[in-house]
Amino acid sequence: MSNATARAYPNIALVKYWGKRDETLMLPAAGSLSLTLDAFATTTTVELLDGASEDVFSLNGVAQSGDSLARVTKFLSLVRELAGSAQHAAVTSINEAPTGAGLASSASGFAALAVAAAAAYGLDLDRAALSRLARRGSGSAARSLVDGISVWHAGDGDETSFAEPVTAPEMSMIIVTVDARQKAISSRTAMRRTALTSPFYPAWVESTEQTLAAMLEACRDQDFSRIGRITEMHALRMHALIQSADPPIRYLLPTSVAIFDAVVALREAGIEAYSTADAGPNVAVISRPEDAQAVADALEQYGTVRIVGAGAGATLIPNPIDPSLEATA
Ligand code: PMV
Repeated sequence: MSNATARAYPNIALVKYWGKRDETLMLPAAGSLSLTLDAFATTTTVELLDGASEDVFSLNGVAQSGDSLARVTKFLSLVRELAGSAQHAAVTSINEAPTGAGLASSASGFAALAVAAAAAYGLDLDRAALSRLARRGSGSAARSLVDGISVWHAGDGDETSFAEPVTAPEMSMIIVTVDARQKAISSRTAMRRTALTSPFYPAWVESTEQTLAAMLEACRDQDFSRIGRITEMHALRMHALIQSADPPIRYLLPTSVAIFDAVVALREAGIEAYSTADAGPNVAVISRPEDAQAVADALEQYGTVRIVGAGAGATLIPNPIDPSLEATA
């Protein structure tokens, strides 16, 4: 195939990934666990070009250059190396989430790119291999290859660091978008700074593996309350860790903190919900599906609210019809 299209969704971690032990192979310092969403899709087409001397990348209709293009080219070079190809490609991507605002657009972006590029370059990879490939683009993308809840194993090297499905109770996620602007410091830069400067970093790495083991047990037991408690605790730990870097980094805004408080108040009022937030000010709240609307109603005053559920791992879809090829008669 010389042309392939894939669709992927972002994922939101319930046990967070923060820190790499190998920046080239993108191996995480600890394992993590997330929910792949059924909204904010990225749809990406990779088309191999005859005789081109470089890759081109368009995102939401805008031709990319600089870092954005460089990350895609670097990823395609890896795919070319695996496929034994020297051919450049045109990557066309539509991202339905606000890019760079902590809604994990890099996860859906690299998961879709991994699946589309592997197919376009003729690589025959299974889910685990695609997850490992997506990981090289953005660590958290490894988890967007999996439907619903997934665990990304830290692994002991490239071969063993991939995501796979975990059985867990059904849940909804209420995303509260507080600010959709691009974050000031990328997660990549912030992770590096945290690892190099926070005195708490070793404790974070060590405790995250224990947190992950407890979370996997809670999932196995279908224990939503325990899953929720671990989720909120681990999110606050990650933000505390990030704030302890030198110079400090703070992603949460006063409104984000107000949402965490509002969710505690909801629990006190008998609606079981728990908060988390990635490297940005937006807050994702988990609840049982039957409580999602009540949670959304209560949080509407803080930002744009959207109820989402468990979505599918990245997959190939039929190529969209190129309007320029459509009959005009
Ligand atoms: O893969 P990255 O560089 O987008 O890092 C993601 C980091 C967090 O979203 C904050 C946590 C996580 O586990 O997704």
